[in-house]
Amino acid sequence: VDGPHETMRTAHELAAKLYYHVLTLTEQGADGREYVKERGFTREQIEQFQIGFAPDRWDSLTTILDKREYSLDLMVEAGLLGERESKDGYFDRFRNRLMFPIWDGQGKVIAFGGRTVSDEKPKYLNSADTPIFHKGQTLYGIHLARPSIRKEGSVILFEGYVDVIAAWGAGLTNTVATLGTALTEEQGRIIRRNAETVTICYDSDNAGINAAFKSASILKQAGCIIKIADMPEGMDPDDYIRTYGAERFKSDVIGASMTFMSFKMRYLRRGKNLANEAERMRYIEEVLSEISTLTRAVERDHYLRQIAEEFSLSLEALKQELQQNIRSNK
Ligand code: UTP
Ligand code: MN
Ligand code: MN
Ligand code: MN
Ligand code: MN
Repeated sequence: VDGPHETMRTAHELAAKLYYHVLTLTEQGADGREYVKERGFTREQIEQFQIGFAPDRWDSLTTILDKREYSLDLMVEAGLLGERESKDGYFDRFRNRLMFPIWDGQGKVIAFGGRTVSDEKPKYLNSADTPIFHKGQTLYGIHLARPSIRKEGSVILFEGYVDVIAAWGAGLTNTVATLGTALTEEQGRIIRRNAETVTICYDSDNAGINAAFKSASILKQAGCIIKIADMPEGMDPDDYIRTYGAERFKSDVIGASMTFMSFKMRYLRRGKNLANEAERMRYIEEVLSEISTLTRAVERDHYLRQIAEEFSLSLEALKQELQQNIRSNK
């Protein structure tokens, strides 16, 4: 007899099969298919990522689990069902959503993410943590990406599963995503075990930029070499691929990724008018302060020269300034 964790896993496999079946073969999947078409997911993407649809009903999964004699209380604990407030029954937690199975590192379904196909809130609903799913220890897509991560020696990190799926459509398969939350140290360690170089490719909005800073410092702690992709303002990887296509995504976004330091420099420039003397000086000071935290002398030298050249300053003066900065860091 299986323990409760194993039962939760088989229930997730069953649910994934149901949702996939509904999306691909049934009348109840019509709204899901309409959405998939609009969004441009291909048959290959649907199959590779086992995308499905949870119909707009309260009892689809509940009925099936009940028929197969699963303990419905256990299914509530597993995050698949809810219990009615009146305690006289159960209901499907995911309804009227496009469903994305979330796998563990071995490829076992342990959770779901669901995107509404209407305007319901939240837009994305993910399973809460359960005995078999720990969001902070899970990287979406890692079991599919592992062979190409190892082959390339690098991984591309996205904010969401939709971006991973879009990137596969563009032929980039060494990709993983966190699940709508900041990268954890545990996830950083998983990444480092698989690859040394990480390209962070988050949405180019304020939330994404701030998250990129946080993830970069966690990945640095974990011992990774970090690059940051150059996304145009306001876009996310999925938008970009749909708008400009796979080739431009590979060359102009992933191919043009920059060092963490260059990313910081660009960030510090935002909203400053560098033609203005005072703002220019403040920018240079801020950049020097960042350069002073770099541990390798060649790296410090590289960025100092860049600043010296851009603002026609003497390298000597910048070096002196930097030394003062370094002393005050100690
Ligand atoms: P976004 O909020 O950027 O989604 O979340 P989006 O790009 O606007 O969504 P679309 O394009 O309209 O569908 C980015 C990713 O973070 C995850 C999802 O995987 C999403 O793709 N996410 C977001 C969650 O898991 N939970 C959330 O509550 C929000
Ligand atoms: Mn959004
Ligand atoms: Mn976003
Ligand atoms: Mn999007
Ligand atoms: Mn997005």
